[in-house]
Amino acid sequence: MEAIFSDRMRDVPRSFIREILKVTMDRNIISFAGGLPNRLFFPTEQLREATNRVFQLYGTDCLQYSNSEGLLPLREYISERYHHEQGITISPANILITNGSQQALDLIAKITINRGDQVIIEEPGYLGAIQALSLYRPRFIAVPVSACGMDISRLADSLGDAQPKMMYTVPNFQNPSGISYTAQNKKSIAGLVGGRKLLLVEDDPYRALRFQGEPVPSFYHYLPSQTLMLGSFSKVVVPGFRLGWIAAPDAIYEKLLIAKQASDLHTCNFTQYVLLEYLLHNNIDAHVKKIVTVYGNQCQAMIESIERSFPGDVSCTRPDGGMFLWGELPDGLSSLALFERAVKRQVVFVPGEPFYTTDRRASTFRLNFSCVDETLIREGVSRLADALADMRGTGPR
Ligand SMILES: Cc1ncc(COP(=O)(O)O)c(C=O)c1O
Repeated sequence: MEAIFSDRMRDVPRSFIREILKVTMDRNIISFAGGLPNRLFFPTEQLREATNRVFQLYGTDCLQYSNSEGLLPLREYISERYHHEQGITISPANILITNGSQQALDLIAKITINRGDQVIIEEPGYLGAIQALSLYRPRFIAVPVSACGMDISRLADSLGDAQPKMMYTVPNFQNPSGISYTAQNKKSIAGLVGGRKLLLVEDDPYRALRFQGEPVPSFYHYLPSQTLMLGSFSKVVVPGFRLGWIAAPDAIYEKLLIAKQASDLHTCNFTQYVLLEYLLHNNIDAHVKKIVTVYGNQCQAMIESIERSFPGDVSCTRPDGGMFLWGELPDGLSSLALFERAVKRQVVFVPGEPFYTTDRRASTFRLNFSCVDETLIREGVSRLADALADMRGTGPR
């Protein structure tokens, strides 16, 4: 059977997280493994009302084939938000509505990457990007990220005589590490990659989920002609609509549009109408504020529990927003081994290995705090600490 598959399928990593999620279906398990927004904040009633209005207002239009660019009023809405929130002027003509930002990654890779082309990627990096890009068989150049953003000297070294076509970043509350790039870090990156034949992909689905600290300008401020800005409604409205977008300069937009047409003709017309109706008739800022307050409290509860229960040689990041934090066990300890112990104590998380393309650091792990309430977070972290004590043979704490 292997013979029938294309070469490109050979190098694509399976989604380890999906495998893990199978284990976590048991209701008694406390899961820090998922990457899902909290369903308690899905605006179900408001979406029901929006759906009814869409049928009344648009009749069969909302069920017909539509244009590949996406619904114009929705693109106008996104354009207006860029202006209002970040002072950036992006024409609706430069916004392409995609089937989630995940499709944006596929389309960008499709129009740029030939086999063996170099792509700079964060280490650790977003698993969905590693998977989507891998289908086009690039050579990844991994650059580590830490509390302030990318490691600038490693980036400078990596650029050396390399000619990467793309650089992939998640600058706010990165998945998986929770870190954010500072303005200085972005400026330094722009200094290094500006003027090169390189597209900087700024994948920013978590931007609105900031619970502390000040927002930082987009890469677009520093590199307008090289930056592709990706956005998503998954984390602030609902992920099931699969609605995201790419903001791209004209020449790139043209190619993306061809790739989009070839891929699926257009993003679901009906959900675009419903989302637009919802956005126009509800206070999205107030809605996001509710989500952010809860995520912020849950993150804080997780950090405090870790500080209380874990030994001092386990480190973790302190995110200013988003849904994840990242930990590291002291040298020599494997997070996969911890995972196996943790399952027995009915708590799960994601071991760090799959988030690396090259230098795999087996001692790292990702914890999600968006979907578990504060009481369960305290209980789950305490169970994790017990699992760690089991592993180290230090007995129950
Ligand atoms: C960094 C990052 N990019 C993209 C996505 C995919 O989002 P969407 O639902 O818009 O496809 C995710 C989802 O978790 C993500 O974490």
